[in-house]
Amino acid sequence: MGMAFYLGVLALIISSYFPIMASTVTPTTLVDTSSLNRSSFPKGFIFGTGSSSYQYEGAANEGGRGQSIWDNYTHKYSDKILDRSNGDVAVDQYHRYKDDVAIMKYMNTDAYRFSISWPRILPKGKVSAGINKEGIKYYNNLINELLDNGLVPFVTLFHFDLPQALQDKYNGFLSSDIINDFRDYAELCFKEFGDRVKHWITINEPHSHSTIGTEAPYIASYNQLLAHAAAVKLYRTNYQVSQKGSIGITLNCIWFLPFSNDILDHQAAHRALDFMFGWFMEPLTKGKYPQSMVSLVGKRLPKFTKKQSKMLIGSFDFIGINYYTSSFAANIPHSKNDTSKPTYFKDTHVNLTTERNGAPIGPRAASPWLYVYPRGIRELLLYTKTKYNNPLIYITENGMDEFNDPTLSLEEALMDTYRIDYFYRHLYYISSAIKHGVKVKGYFAWSLLDNFEWSAGYTLEIKRLKRRCGTVIATKVLNQMELKGDIMRFLSEFHRNGRLGKGPVTNVEYNVPTLIRYVNVATNVPTLY
Ligand SMILES: *[C@@H]1O[C@H](CO)[C@@H](O)[C@H](O)[C@H]1NC(C)=O
Ligand SMILES: *[C@@H]1O[C@H](CO)[C@@H](O)[C@H](O)[C@H]1NC(C)=O
Ligand SMILES: *[C@@H]1O[C@H](CO)[C@@H](O)[C@H](O)[C@H]1NC(C)=O
Ligand SMILES: *[C@@H]1O[C@H](CO)[C@@H](O)[C@H](O)[C@H]1NC(C)=O
Repeated sequence: MGMAFYLGVLALIISSYFPIMASTVTPTTLVDTSSLNRSSFPKGFIFGTGSSSYQYEGAANEGGRGQSIWDNYTHKYSDKILDRSNGDVAVDQYHRYKDDVAIMKYMNTDAYRFSISWPRILPKGKVSAGINKEGIKYYNNLINELLDNGLVPFVTLFHFDLPQALQDKYNGFLSSDIINDFRDYAELCFKEFGDRVKHWITINEPHSHSTIGTEAPYIASYNQLLAHAAAVKLYRTNYQVSQKGSIGITLNCIWFLPFSNDILDHQAAHRALDFMFGWFMEPLTKGKYPQSMVSLVGKRLPKFTKKQSKMLIGSFDFIGINYYTSSFAANIPHSKNDTSKPTYFKDTHVNLTTERNGAPIGPRAASPWLYVYPRGIRELLLYTKTKYNNPLIYITENGMDEFNDPTLSLEEALMDTYRIDYFYRHLYYISSAIKHGVKVKGYFAWSLLDNFEWSAGYTLEIKRLKRRCGTVIATKVLNQMELKGDIMRFLSEFHRNGRLGKGPVTNVEYNVPTLIRYVNVATNVPTLY
């Protein structure tokens, strides 16, 4: 989950209780999803799981890999990681990719989304400073193993793990030097892997990288957009015709509900979407920033030249969307005498809250920012269709986490009721969005395995498959245990097109106090599109 990375900080500005508004919160009518199955999706719809290099690969000091900013950060500031862990070993996919592909195949998924570690193939970040053949070989092995097992590779080029060398040299995405280096790196990937990789994602969650990973979000986003556009231009000019692939970018977005029916809160919700999603979608479709950002950020927002705008417009074949959660947005009035330094979050003039009248927007997962609000994914999809001219979309991440509870037995841990419910409901709303004409072409559950979850380390469970003490319990589980209600079985059956053993959760007693019944707060809130 990239979102944890960003929202760890967002959580600081999220308030928890707002007793003033008196509108009623009505319990939801449970959605009938009992007949949802693979054939509820269009023919050719792709189901897969997602991952990223730093969270999965491990082998940090092997095979000629250079250091990434995440190696540096986790080692230098281990106190900033909840369990003081790092990605040195992670889920060891570097060594165990064959096991992992076997799991994917067992699950009957169609595709696998992974990212290439830039410093693994370019240890110093630049092509001119040397290509690491061993790194190239690893990705060739992984790609070939996927293809041999009938799985389609979806490859992200940049998923937060920037080469430390480029950080040291010019501060990474804060410098426009990154544009050429990224394009060269992308070209190397097209050349080496493009005969087999037909789905490229240039950058994952530029919003997260800008707002959390850098000191100057507007500049970092500007350079990420330009680096993206440069890579796409190169791909289209030199590779797309012969390689016949497609290329896009992955954006993360929360769905925002106006905190009240006050017009100012409606505007706040729109503004929140502009600052999180429009920040990228407007340049990618119109070559400029959203008007709300232009007027609020003013001169601190870098300007696109005519040439840059032209290069940005339409620079994608598809948009990847990472969706996990929703939030209420309330207006923060301008204060005339606020003389403190402006920040991205202050610029938005939006107060994000996850509760209203003491009722959360949905059940809370483990991450403090992750409140389950499945309907938000449909709202976001319909909004994207209407506002941005109906682009082709892949849901590149969606999922929920729970606390890692080592006291649970394996069997208990495999009772994955709430996660099944989460997937079920989100898939339902995606299928509903498709029926409303949104062109969603695929869905990647986050994630295949528990992994290094950035500042949360390994404290979260996002998937019941994990490696304990270096053994793959997953395959053992698959071979030897009868699976009852676990997410593996859910997804496997789902992907097999057959009837699902389990329907949606309705009144299940579940011993997790943080999880509460669904509330439907959206019934009296008009939509934004
Ligand atoms: C945000 O909302 C919370 C409660 O909903 C409130 O306590 C807080 O003062 C608000 N913050 C701002 C900056 O308006
Ligand atoms: C699968 O879904 C379709 C469309 O939603 C439905 O008509 C069909 O009955 C479902 N099949 C099963 C086996 O549940
Ligand atoms: C982080 O990077 C800096 C600059 O390259 C280097 O001096 C330092 O040793 C690195 N720290 C760790 C813990 O790797
Ligand atoms: C702004 O100034 C007024 C008058 O001096 C004061 O009452 C108010 O608290 C100040 N507001 C902020 C946000 O500092």
